[in-house]
Amino acid sequence: MAVLSFFQTIKLPCTMRVFRLTTPLQQKHFFSKLLFLLFFLLLFSIPLDGFESNRSPKIRFCYLTWQHDPCHTITLNVQGYKTPNELTVYYDTEPCDGKSSCYRYKTCGKEAQGQKILDGRKIYHIELQNLVAGTTYYFAIGNNHRCFGGEKKFRTLPDDGQPLAIIEGGDWEVTPEAECLAKIAAEKNPYAVFLGGDYPSYVFKLNDFKKWDAWLDVYTRRMVTPEGCLIPMVMTIGNHEVLGGFGQTKTEVLFFYEFFRQAEGDKTYFTLPFGPRIQLYVLDSGHAASINGEQKQWLAKVLEETKDIPIKLALYHVPLYPSLRFASKDIYYYSVYKIVELCHGHAADKLFSKESKLGRQHWLPLFDQYGMTVAFEHHDQALKRTKILKGGKEDPRGTLFLGDGGWGSEYQYHPIQGYFHSYFAMLKGKVHFFWLVEIEEETITYSAVTSEGVLIDHFVQFLRSKE
Ligand SMILES: [Fe+2]
Repeated sequence: MAVLSFFQTIKLPCTMRVFRLTTPLQQKHFFSKLLFLLFFLLLFSIPLDGFESNRSPKIRFCYLTWQHDPCHTITLNVQGYKTPNELTVYYDTEPCDGKSSCYRYKTCGKEAQGQKILDGRKIYHIELQNLVAGTTYYFAIGNNHRCFGGEKKFRTLPDDGQPLAIIEGGDWEVTPEAECLAKIAAEKNPYAVFLGGDYPSYVFKLNDFKKWDAWLDVYTRRMVTPEGCLIPMVMTIGNHEVLGGFGQTKTEVLFFYEFFRQAEGDKTYFTLPFGPRIQLYVLDSGHAASINGEQKQWLAKVLEETKDIPIKLALYHVPLYPSLRFASKDIYYYSVYKIVELCHGHAADKLFSKESKLGRQHWLPLFDQYGMTVAFEHHDQALKRTKILKGGKEDPRGTLFLGDGGWGSEYQYHPIQGYFHSYFAMLKGKVHFFWLVEIEEETITYSAVTSEGVLIDHFVQFLRSKE
């Protein structure tokens, strides 16, 4: 009764009006409304599994890269809203359905410092280390024993030299064809996707992060194996990621470093082992680092250190043997250049690829000396496969050059390259495609697959011929 007498007089602070609950009916109605109100307050104040209020932390994207050995590490790149300054990744080799207490392992990571995205999101790069090779891991992201989203999984690379499938492509724009290619590529069950630059077109302003969002939306939805494992990516930088395109420094690079943690020290060139038999060299074809100079010295050093690794893969943006652009100022080039210059002025400059020439001058002798197995090239957005070349001549101990981008890029061209035409074994324009690379004990098989799922080129490279 004392409680009832207390509630019989209620003062509302905003109006200071006084309600007197004098009759039993008034008291009954009041308590019904109060209980109803309390129920909703409770509902919106306690986070429930599968329920997110506006105040709940939300993981926008989670995608995988590598900073170190893919057999024993993985890097989770996480973008979130209203997430704490530090996240915890709970993980295990058995599924735990997103229950933090069930996972045997955990690793924490703080919000990354760097470019602040305008919509207030936080970005984290959390590396899981000491993983077991060739193993599926299940993980959930959270903080203080609470997970924000569902469980995901990935697999580490095997370290016993077993056959490996990798997807390779570049110039991936946000188009229906690009999404079709991503869907078909994921069905090939690859361990990794190698990407060769020029992702969303020309991301040069701070509010261009929406273009990256659209790209990451496709990648994170589609790049999942048939068993549900997220597929890690290795990315090289292209001219679309750098204000000015070529001859710039880290200062002119927007988003790329902040979104994708790959090499230590934010280098745009780095190397990764892929098991005991494969080494990948990721290069910067003159965008934020010079082709010559420090990068060339570094390349010579790591090629010497890894000279006994039998399979060497190079990944960079601008082709040394371009399918489209002129690579040398021969008479044919000058004739076309002058005609285009008369009609379109500086557009003619785009016909000539200075970086292709620099790459051949500074990188090619190293490729020849150390026996680069295959070089993945991009930028020109046509399909090409060269003969196996060494010293500018066909030689089974040389390098295969595959390219040139074409993952759903909006602009497509006919190959008009004349200068190096005799170097090409396959040349085809106006086609959306990726390369499926299947590495086995004695061979590497390369298959070009279109956005309709059609096989349009197929080539087997014999590794014994490198000996
Ligand atoms: Fe490009």
